[in-house]
Amino acid sequence: MTEISSNTSAENPTVRDTFLHVADLHFWKFVYNPLRLLSKRFLGNANVFFRRRHEFPMSQAEALIQGLEETGERQALLTGDFSSTALDEEFVLARAFVDSLATRGFSIYLLPGNHDVYTYESHRLQRFERHFAPYVPEQGYPALERFPGGTPLMLVPTVGPNVLSSKGRISAEELRKTGELLKDLAAPAIVAGHYPVLNETPGYRLTTNRLLRNAGALRRVLGESGIPILYVAGHVHRFSLVQDPVYPNLTHLCTGAFFRRNEREGIRGEFSRVRVSDAGFQVHRYTLREGWESLRSKPESL
Ligand SMILES: [Fe+2]
Ligand SMILES: [Fe+2]
Repeated sequence: MTEISSNTSAENPTVRDTFLHVADLHFWKFVYNPLRLLSKRFLGNANVFFRRRHEFPMSQAEALIQGLEETGERQALLTGDFSSTALDEEFVLARAFVDSLATRGFSIYLLPGNHDVYTYESHRLQRFERHFAPYVPEQGYPALERFPGGTPLMLVPTVGPNVLSSKGRISAEELRKTGELLKDLAAPAIVAGHYPVLNETPGYRLTTNRLLRNAGALRRVLGESGIPILYVAGHVHRFSLVQDPVYPNLTHLCTGAFFRRNEREGIRGEFSRVRVSDAGFQVHRYTLREGWESLRSKPESL
């Protein structure tokens, strides 16, 4: 593994917590039974078959897990889209992946993505909650957890099923609870959701039918808390680290999809490592090319 910029917790005593961010696994199982191709899942299947199939080769899972393991870190934050169409079979694969991290000593923090509540049926049956029961916070989302060094980690709900679009949502009540929980937090804090709250950065642009409906309201709650916050999300499948142009206390990280192949850039997978210290956040982007490489990333201004 090539470490371009490095200092470990032992060398830097101000680092209180380090975690790995893994986004958008998108395990898939193509459904051949036509009776199961009803409704929106049909669109999802076509999408999986023609596109994701090539972008997310599952045989790579083991090699990529090794990349996480070799960092030496043992805290993992997974921000949803474990499945592609919220099928039981896909969740079984995703759960095996997460279990294998847990077996290697990782503490797991996770929340669902829009693909994990892909259809109204999967949402009603609470498939995600059933398959990930040991890892889902007892009280549901939003949930306040803590990394071992004491850094608060808030897991925020941003997903719900849609008829055709891929829009996210957070209810007024969930926003209120999020604000309440933020009030008493020690700084700096990590807040994680599936959807980013900025619709466009130099790293990505969200089209209208893929964004979080009340992103502005969530961003305001985070910004007005006054606490230094790193908001960590996935969904866009691209890396992006930006300083919020309105709230100086807010930084936004999106990590590219873990299994995503990007032939043009020669990338075969990626994740991020975040270090939290009194001075704030330090983000490294890890990419798998010939081998793993890591590069310190500085927040861009918009
Ligand atoms: Fe995704
Ligand atoms: Fe998503």
